[in-house]
Amino acid sequence: MKRREFLLGSGAAAGALGLSQFALASNPQELVIQTASFALCDQVTHGMVSLSPDAPPPVLYGRQGEVMRLPVRNTLSDYTAMHWHGLRIPNGMDGVPYLTQMPMGEGDHFGYKFVPPDAGTYWYHPHCMTMEQMAHGLTGVMVIAEAEDPGFDGEQVINLRDFRLDEAGAFLPAYTPRGAARAGTFGNVHTANWLQAPVYDHPAGGLVRLRVVNTDTTRIYKLNLDHAEARIIAWDGHPVDIDVPLPSVAEPLLLGPGQRVDFAVKMPEDEGQTVNLMAKLPGQPLRSMVGLQAVGASVARDMRELKPLAKNPVARPDLNKAELHEFVFGWTPEGGEPNNGFCGSLGYNFWSINRKRWPGDAAQDVAPLATLEMGKSYVLRLRNESPNLHPIHLHGLVFVPIKSNLRQLPPLMTDTMLLLKDEVVEIALVADNPGDWAFHCHVIEHQKTGLTGFIRVV
Ligand code: C2O
Ligand code: CU
Ligand code: CU
Repeated sequence: MKRREFLLGSGAAAGALGLSQFALASNPQELVIQTASFALCDQVTHGMVSLSPDAPPPVLYGRQGEVMRLPVRNTLSDYTAMHWHGLRIPNGMDGVPYLTQMPMGEGDHFGYKFVPPDAGTYWYHPHCMTMEQMAHGLTGVMVIAEAEDPGFDGEQVINLRDFRLDEAGAFLPAYTPRGAARAGTFGNVHTANWLQAPVYDHPAGGLVRLRVVNTDTTRIYKLNLDHAEARIIAWDGHPVDIDVPLPSVAEPLLLGPGQRVDFAVKMPEDEGQTVNLMAKLPGQPLRSMVGLQAVGASVARDMRELKPLAKNPVARPDLNKAELHEFVFGWTPEGGEPNNGFCGSLGYNFWSINRKRWPGDAAQDVAPLATLEMGKSYVLRLRNESPNLHPIHLHGLVFVPIKSNLRQLPPLMTDTMLLLKDEVVEIALVADNPGDWAFHCHVIEHQKTGLTGFIRVV
């Protein structure tokens, strides 16, 4: 769909997408974007954004290969649009304002409907007024179940994120220009599922699937488990079929905004013992973000009983035939305010892709950063020219890292590549999903101050 078509207005776009059918669909519960209040600390924080008046956005469950209907209604006075991060779904359902749909105003409804092709851990967040709504709470986890049950005794979903609050529990400004021009502005209240260091019960001796999602707008977590009987079984949604070392205090796992990791954890045999997901935050002692506590008599499971997860149907790129495209991420040489239309500007430009800043979500006649041909293999060379880290995310497609100038990268399928300082990474993919796919840094301050673009697959 061409960007221009949206200039006709949301009515035309809605007609083209056949939204009326979705509205008639039976079962699905409407997801109502609304303001919320919640005690993140001792005091209640007001002015949060969620899908419930007093709770975090729920985990949304779907099943691989089965239709998901997600009717979204906006009750905020700001515009919004919902994006399903990591899911390889049709472009029109991707939730990117002006690129795949018009922003949803107050009272507007959008019937998202798709069939997730891949199982795994994904997440959702708005892609319009992104900073405001995400920083205030609207980030949730999506679990797409395997067609075949992998046989765990329990499952724990963890949504890791910070909030920036003052002592009275009120929101501080979500970003500062100083932060946006550097690593980003960090929150000061560190939560898992909106709770500080919650502890969840799971059967002693059982096998638990721990799904960890970084939905923060800024923070790159350094994580490890204080427990040896565990294994990384999926990365950014996709099953890991090679041996990846378990992170440790000395060599923690770097999980950037947008990234996910699934662990298989063998719970301790004795009731009351816990397994903790530990994080090292700058200037602070190692802290537990979440605990899993063993309860009951041991069910005495064995890690070796776990079968590997079935592979997702992702096409493997053919490196011999792949065409190379280069992308440089750095500061911007240009000024000027972006035209973000209804979707909120931070009022600055600091960042660029290929030395061009994103002219804005609502800017017209913006060319794609690259045009890829359906079904062909490509190598994208991603060069970080800045001293800051960037989790670079591509919508609608998944890719595999093939080399880095700084480290050995395991060839794990992903949609979000964390680029280190001065790093050049080559990733490979098959362009097998047609449409205009957003391509941006997932540090929201970078995304919203220039580090955005899109890749076209035709
Ligand atoms: Cu998770 Cu373009 O986003
Ligand atoms: Cu995404
Ligand atoms: Cu960035």
